[in-house]
Amino acid sequence: MNATAKLTTDRQDLKRQIRQLESIAALSGGIAHDYNNLLTAIMGNISLALEQVGSDTKLSSLLEQALAASRVAKTLTRRLITFSKGGQPNKKPTDLVSVIENTAAFSLCGSNIRCELGHSNGIWPAHTDAQQIGQAIHNLVINAAESMPSGGTVFIRFENTTVDSPNSILPPGRYIDIAIEDQGVGIPPEYIEKIFDPYFSTKAKGAVKGTGLGLSISHSIISNHGGEITVCSRLGAGTTFHVLLPASEAPADPAHPLEARENVEPSDTPVMGRGRILVMDDEAMILELTGNMLGHLGYDADFAEEGQNAVRKYKAALDASAPYDAVILDLTIKGGMGGQETIAMLKALDPTVKAIVSSGYSDNPVIANYRQYGFCEVVAKPYEVIEFSRKLYRVVNDT
Ligand SMILES: Nc1ncnc2c1ncn2[C@@H]1O[C@H](COP(=O)(O)OP(=O)(O)OP(=O)(O)O)[C@@H](O)[C@H]1O
Ligand SMILES: [Mg+2]
Repeated sequence: MNATAKLTTDRQDLKRQIRQLESIAALSGGIAHDYNNLLTAIMGNISLALEQVGSDTKLSSLLEQALAASRVAKTLTRRLITFSKGGQPNKKPTDLVSVIENTAAFSLCGSNIRCELGHSNGIWPAHTDAQQIGQAIHNLVINAAESMPSGGTVFIRFENTTVDSPNSILPPGRYIDIAIEDQGVGIPPEYIEKIFDPYFSTKAKGAVKGTGLGLSISHSIISNHGGEITVCSRLGAGTTFHVLLPASEAPADPAHPLEARENVEPSDTPVMGRGRILVMDDEAMILELTGNMLGHLGYDADFAEEGQNAVRKYKAALDASAPYDAVILDLTIKGGMGGQETIAMLKALDPTVKAIVSSGYSDNPVIANYRQYGFCEVVAKPYEVIEFSRKLYRVVNDT
């Protein structure tokens, strides 16, 4: 086979692999979304039960353990959702050096691994979703750390580069090349073809357990950004991953509002409140859970299973001079009007409407820019009672 024919076959193989990965991604996205709803009911009910049994009982410690396991399941579901189509990137001009510096510091915090960053001045901003790129790089940094069980240094180097070769699978243009290098165990040549396959892991047994999803997620995120990830490894000497991401024409935004997380201590208690709340969700178990939570917190709850009905109920309450104090809208409703259209109609009826959007897709642009769409707050599913109670109280009482 001559060199050009071989290159064509390689590219066809690569395209086939990408297609395979995309169909697995779509499938796992569907499952992850349903699973996330189940998890919302599981975690919500456990956290509510914990409220009722009091602390320091045998029962509360069993419930705490169930909740801790559900939190691990929640992380896994988040990763699956990012991997799937539900995690379409919300791209903005990004300063990759600072995003990756923060990510690597977070990934290696408390470990015996150091991180060294290298870059010249003037690394171009990239056109990326900072949160997703953070996730992709986190997976690579964790792998690098896991390859050096007795400690070491992960080197991350940035370089501006221009692609103009017809042999590249990337369109010509300006890119940022990020190299992540370790001096770990290396990858055996017979595995190198498989490492991006979902569920391929050599960490199934032993001290560190792996799901084999880390690299498939990184691969999927980087492909969704129009970038490329490649690897080069020497057994016993170390591994370097190269990630190429398209540069942005515009300068980077100064701040990246990554998902704000509430800081909840085990000793914290929920914030009680008063008021009438309308909840819209297409899942009966979520309506029931949210109703129970609201009852426990001191609110009166009313329900709608889709947007048209929510708008009807909201209007009827306004007309009867007994308006709702807040509405909680699910973003995606199967076969009905979802949160985005519903808030637009509610705003038209009542410009002062107080609405919280709830969704399992934390990467969705409506979630990322919820204020632009008319919402006051966001609760990402699955939610637990303390965080939920704080956010609702702030919205209802304008604090
Ligand atoms: N830096 C590295 N050094 C050595 N081997 C690596 C490195 N990165 C990946 N691998 C190999 O590729 C496999 C797949 O990696 P991937 O991140 O997808 O899954 P995992 O690390 O096994 O599990 P998970 O990331 O879900 O915890 C690993 O099990 C390991 O064999
Ligand atoms: Mg991994």
